[in-house]
Amino acid sequence: MDHSRRDFLKKVAVGTAGIAFAGPGLQARNVRNTPGANERVRVAVMGTNSRGAALARSVARSEMGEVAYICDVDERVVEETVQDIQNQQGKKPKGVYDFRRALDDGSLDALIIAAPDHWHTPAGIMALQAGKHVYVEKPCSHNSREGELFIQAQKKYDKVVQMGDQNRSSPVCMQAVQEVRNGIIGRPYYGKAEYARPRKSIGHGREAPVPEWLHYDLWQGPAPRTAYRDNVIHYNWHWFWRWGTGEINNNGIHPIDLMRWVMGIDTYPVLVSSSGGRFHYQDDWEFYDTQLASFTFNDRKMISWEGKSCTGYSASGGSIIYGTEGNMVLTRDSYEIYDLEGNQIKTYKGDIEEATDLQAGGDATDAHIYNLFKSIKNNTPNNSPIDEGHKSNVLCHLGNISQHVGRKLRINPDNGHILGDGEAMQMWGRTYEPGWEPKV
Ligand SMILES: NC(=O)c1ccc[n+]([C@@H]2O[C@H](COP(=O)([O-])OP(=O)(O)OC[C@H]3O[C@@H](n4cnc5c(N)ncnc54)[C@H](O)[C@@H]3O)[C@@H](O)[C@H]2O)c1
Repeated sequence: MDHSRRDFLKKVAVGTAGIAFAGPGLQARNVRNTPGANERVRVAVMGTNSRGAALARSVARSEMGEVAYICDVDERVVEETVQDIQNQQGKKPKGVYDFRRALDDGSLDALIIAAPDHWHTPAGIMALQAGKHVYVEKPCSHNSREGELFIQAQKKYDKVVQMGDQNRSSPVCMQAVQEVRNGIIGRPYYGKAEYARPRKSIGHGREAPVPEWLHYDLWQGPAPRTAYRDNVIHYNWHWFWRWGTGEINNNGIHPIDLMRWVMGIDTYPVLVSSSGGRFHYQDDWEFYDTQLASFTFNDRKMISWEGKSCTGYSASGGSIIYGTEGNMVLTRDSYEIYDLEGNQIKTYKGDIEEATDLQAGGDATDAHIYNLFKSIKNNTPNNSPIDEGHKSNVLCHLGNISQHVGRKLRINPDNGHILGDGEAMQMWGRTYEPGWEPKV
């Protein structure tokens, strides 16, 4: 582990990262008691082309976990990540293309899921059924019905299930939450989240032979079968309904979840609306490169999210929380407070480095993995339990549904279900490849 990362984790552990508040998951830890090899949490990482490789490196750095398996349906990726992790942790993980072989290992403690979104809930439920703890990347589900099943399975098998919204383990975000709780901006009523990234066109794909390095049947898994096309794997599956969940679940989820947390919103909304489209390019991309989604809640609060997938220009550079006595501009590593006249009254820059390219991992990711291991080993509260992650994901799924059907949705604030709109509610779940339906 490099020194800056080790120092950061020590500070997080003893609550001296320059913060006045540590969330429930970050109290009274002692990283000096590094566990011996036999006490380490043994994990398998599923899907390591990009984000999964960063998570595997976080595990190797953590000194509390061991990467026991690298699982990927791309044989080239397995080979590369096994080598990378061997270099990091000294011990060589096993490389397998089928993650179910890792779940067969009775000495495995946890599955980390960073495969495409259509795999998240089905693989998570399979891991719980095999008696494993789960870290599931955001979004925790491909659709809202899956999130409900995932929660049921977590309760039934009583294991830790943590979602990969690492802001929840960021000391800066924790301090921002505490500042707002302490009343620095009065009653927060509007959270404005934004995302901008200059993505290129994905063009028009063509049917092609399945590459010899890819186990395409297992890549598809729960999703209904379709012929291989040459502009989907890797990464571009994000923009197709069959496997992906669009930018709102990809990068909207981080600030939307953060807004819910900072503003103390615990219910589902009562109204959801969205406008936007695929405006920048005309290609195979099925979701929206420009989207303005808004969520109104019962207690006089709202959240909006503005996603721009084809430009890097962002006016605010972060999320803004408007309150009755002031406003907060919040980024991953800092926040600023303004009064109602727009005068800056406080700035805070955290002792944290979150890589701007999230796939590279970062301090918040390390802290999140650390919290996962403490939850598994010491019953420390999980900073991002599945039922909280699900609530944020439902907002994102509803934003996509509203955009797709082209109208405002009325929502039951107790469970997030859509009221009086059968066509929209049809999109609450999905159809599966026969035999692959997730069952609790
Ligand atoms: N928390 C974060 O900040 C963050 C950042 C980036 C990505 N993510 C999430 O991580 C997930 C992966 O994203 P990515 O950018 O790495 O995607 P990617 O397409 O680059 O990589 C996915 C990998 O999963 C593998 N895979 C597919 N099916 C598999 C299976 N059945 N078993 C094993 N491996 C399988 C693929 O071969 C590929 O190597 C996404 O859900 C994404 O939303 C989270």
